[in-house]
Amino acid sequence: MKDPLLYEAKRVVVTGCASGMGEAAAKILVDLGAHVIGLDVKPTAVAVQQFVQVDLRDKSSIDAAVVAIGSGIDSVFSIAGLPGPPFSDLDTMLVNFVGARHLIESLVPTMTPGASVICTASNGGMGWQQELETLIPLAATEGFDAGKQWCEDHPEVIASGYAPSKKILNAWVAWRGAQLIETGIRLNCSNPGPTQTAMMPTFEEQSGKAIIDAFVGPSGRRSSAEEQAWPMVFMNSARSSYVAAEAIHVDGGFLGAMTTGQIDIAGILSKM
Ligand SMILES: NC(=O)c1ccc[n+]([C@@H]2O[C@H](COP(=O)([O-])OP(=O)(O)OC[C@H]3O[C@@H](n4cnc5c(N)ncnc54)[C@H](O)[C@@H]3O)[C@@H](O)[C@H]2O)c1
Repeated sequence: MKDPLLYEAKRVVVTGCASGMGEAAAKILVDLGAHVIGLDVKPTAVAVQQFVQVDLRDKSSIDAAVVAIGSGIDSVFSIAGLPGPPFSDLDTMLVNFVGARHLIESLVPTMTPGASVICTASNGGMGWQQELETLIPLAATEGFDAGKQWCEDHPEVIASGYAPSKKILNAWVAWRGAQLIETGIRLNCSNPGPTQTAMMPTFEEQSGKAIIDAFVGPSGRRSSAEEQAWPMVFMNSARSSYVAAEAIHVDGGFLGAMTTGQIDIAGILSKM
């Protein structure tokens, strides 16, 4: 079968294309024949058709990127992210949620029929379903400035940066994805487990290697960037046409083991 995932000539935006999962996704999409528009704050080595430098902390930078991208996008891969400290809680929320959402919402009005968006959350955002009362008001803020203001007004919610930024992504995808599918646009997110990328040394420094290892789960190993990129490529492909407002966990069985009591993460963490 030629072009089984139907990406040939599709106009696809990939954020975070300079490194890790975003770089892996951009390479795969170029290989699949898509017209890839790569976005990042740093230059990329991937042979994308168009590169647009953007700082997702900055509304005017995102607005300029939207103009450079133009209309008629088929798929967005929103992969760029910050790991939390040493970056501030606010910068982490801006890159991982507020800026990512502003870019996506700015592209939505001119997206093609059946278009798709995937966001990159994290297993570090587990438990978001129990915090919807707090998270939905942030999800419901309109636009970059209102989202940023909400974060500035709620330092206790965004404390530590990373986990709250991934919880709100899951909550927003469930909430907004259920609205967007009425227009035929699919919004989903992936929750990766520990993945060997440039971000990993920062996680190890922040939390300690033992905690990262505890989150590896029954597969017994970290994933590669490509192992995270492929499920996102599939979820965003036209072959996943009935998958919407969904959060998948690409974590080597961690969530399954935890849900069925085969991993006692609270117990492991309490002994550390
Ligand atoms: N590595 C892991 O273990 C892991 C686990 C779960 C989720 N994630 C998430 O996966 C996504 C990809 O991370 P990765 O592991 O490939 O890390 P990475 O550091 O290799 O890539 C992150 C990319 O985001 C870009 N970026 C950072 N700040 C930016 C900004 N202000 N504007 C635009 N781009 C910016 C970086 O330049 C970089 O290219 C992130 O959202 C991350 O939170 C990572």
